[in-house]
Amino acid sequence: MRRNIALIPAAGVGERFGAGKPKQYVEIVGKTVLQHTLDVFLNCAAIDKVAVVLSPEDNVFQTGIHEKLHVLKVGGETRAESVRNGLFALLQSGLAEDTDNILVHDAARCCLPQAALLRLIETAGACEEGGILAVPVADTLKRAADNAIDATVPRSGLWQAQTPQLFRAGLLRQALAVPDLSAVTDEASAVEMLGVHPRLVLGDARNLKLTLPQDEYIVRLLLEQAD
Ligand code: C5P
Repeated sequence: MRRNIALIPAAGVGERFGAGKPKQYVEIVGKTVLQHTLDVFLNCAAIDKVAVVLSPEDNVFQTGIHEKLHVLKVGGETRAESVRNGLFALLQSGLAEDTDNILVHDAARCCLPQAALLRLIETAGACEEGGILAVPVADTLKRAADNAIDATVPRSGLWQAQTPQLFRAGLLRQALAVPDLSAVTDEASAVEMLGVHPRLVLGDARNLKLTLPQDEYIVRLLLEQAD
């Protein structure tokens, strides 16, 4: 029986957010950002396990005991390294097998609607090539040169990648087993380098990533509405 296993990298320091502490530990509407994110997956019946990847030096993480939750203190220098270390730890410990689905999701995307998560599992979960949540680009795009517009880039066919990104553990293991992870900006890009074309599954504008200080305002409104 194929299992759905969430893998949440949460080992970043969140410099652009500038809160003086990692952004996953900022408290919004009564819980940390990371706890909001974990709860989306812990409360989803289609998710069998939730693995959170922390920095080995993390002494802040606290949560209630939950039978689905596994804490892996194997975070790396970059997001891609944290994901690779987490995946390899899951496979080596027998918590995951090559045939399981792994859903990699940023800790900083704490407003993921359950409906979008279920859409990804239903659509991409059955595909050998996997898939990601993404939204079609809505704004007109400009290429910049010296702070001026160099060109207008046609947006037709362009999508903005979100997470979760869902792949069979075996495929993701192969994709991330490369000596240089610097070109890997998301899991799909690593899988694409194998010549595989993951599915695009419609995401949700509310699934935004807490990145800059001004994002906190919108995230707070979304979380207040959800509770
Ligand atoms: O910094 P950014 O917003 O791109 O981080 C995306 C996610 O990757 C966050 O959840 C962050 O904690 C995680 N990350 C990580 N290990 C790193 C850097 C980022 O797990 N070295």
